Amino acid sequence: MPSIGTIVGLLLLSAGFATLFTWLLSLLAFNPLSYLEGFGERTYNSVPLLWWTIGVSLGVIFFTIFIVLHGIYRHRAGPNDPQNVTRPPGGVAWIFTGVGISTLFLLGTVIWTTIVLRANSAPARTPAIRLAVIGHQWWWEVHYLSETPSKTFATADEIHIPVGQPVEINLSTADVIHSFWVPKLAGKTDLIPGQTNKTWIEASKPGVYRAQCMEYCGVQHAHMAFVVTADPPSVFNAWWDHMLKPQAPPETPAGEQYEAAFIQKCGSCHAVRGTRAGGILGPNLSHLMTRTTIAAGTLPNTVGYLSGWIANPQDIKPGNYMPRLDLSGPELNRVREFLKTLN
Ligand code: CUA
Repeated sequence: MPSIGTIVGLLLLSAGFATLFTWLLSLLAFNPLSYLEGFGERTYNSVPLLWWTIGVSLGVIFFTIFIVLHGIYRHRAGPNDPQNVTRPPGGVAWIFTGVGISTLFLLGTVIWTTIVLRANSAPARTPAIRLAVIGHQWWWEVHYLSETPSKTFATADEIHIPVGQPVEINLSTADVIHSFWVPKLAGKTDLIPGQTNKTWIEASKPGVYRAQCMEYCGVQHAHMAFVVTADPPSVFNAWWDHMLKPQAPPETPAGEQYEAAFIQKCGSCHAVRGTRAGGILGPNLSHLMTRTTIAAGTLPNTVGYLSGWIANPQDIKPGNYMPRLDLSGPELNRVREFLKTLN
C-alpha cells in the first residue's frame, strides 16, 4: 500500500497541473481570435459548454495519470522480490463503474450540446438588419440590405452592427469555399459555391471584434480577415446614413484631376458611390478612409500603407488579384490624393 503522503502528493500534483492548464487557457481567452470567451447571445450559450468539455477532458486526463502513477508506486518490488503478478478478484467492477460514469458525462454533454445547437440555430428575436456577405479570394464584399432600395449600400472588409440586436447574414461566394468566423460572437459558417448559407450574430457589448476566413481558400487565405464593429444603435444608424452619402464632386481643378486619375486607373475594378468609378471586381472603396485596415485586415489604413499597397500590391499580398499598375510618381500621387478625400 502506498503511504497516505504519496496519495496526497499525487493528488496535489494532478490538481496543480489541472490548475496550470486552466490558467493558461484563460490567458489565451484574451487573444482577439480566441473562442474561449464570448460577447454575444450565441457565445453565451456555447462558451459554458466549451469550458465544461475542457473541464471534463482535463478531469479524465489527470484521473488517468493519477491511476497510472498510483499503480506504479503500489507494491513496488524490491531488487530481490520475486515478480509477483496476481489478478485480484473484482476487476470487472472497475470497467462497469468506468463505463457507467463516462456514459453519464457523455450523455449530459450530448443533451447540453443539443440544447445549445437548438438555441443558436436562429435568433430568438427578429433580426434588426440583414446583410449579404460575399467571399472573394481574398476579401469580403458586404451589402447592407433594406426594403427601401435607396437605403442599400455596399462596403468591404469591415462590418458594423448595432449592439444588442441580432443581425442576419446571408453568405455566398464568388469563387471557392470560404468560412465566416467571428470567434467572440459566433461559430463558423461556410460560404459554399452555388448556395446561400444563413447565419446570425449578436454583440452584447460594444467593441471591435476581429474575424477571419476559416477555410483554406488559396495562397492569401491567412490575409482574409475582417472586423465587426458593434456600436450603440444611434451611432450605428448615423454610420449607415453616412455610408449612403455619395462622394462630393471635386471643387478644384486639382480635385478634378485626382478623381479623373482614380476613375481611369482604378475605376474598372473599384466603385466609389457618386462617381463614375463603378467596377465590381475589387472592393467597393466608398468612404474608404473610415475603415481601419486595408487589403482585408492586412495593413493599417494609413496614407503611407495605402501608397505602398497601390504602388505594388503583389509585394504585400503576393498572388492577390490586384495587378501591379506601374503608376508613375505623379499618377500615384493623384490617386492617393483622391483616396484621401473618401471620408
Ligand atoms: Cu477565404 Cu480562407
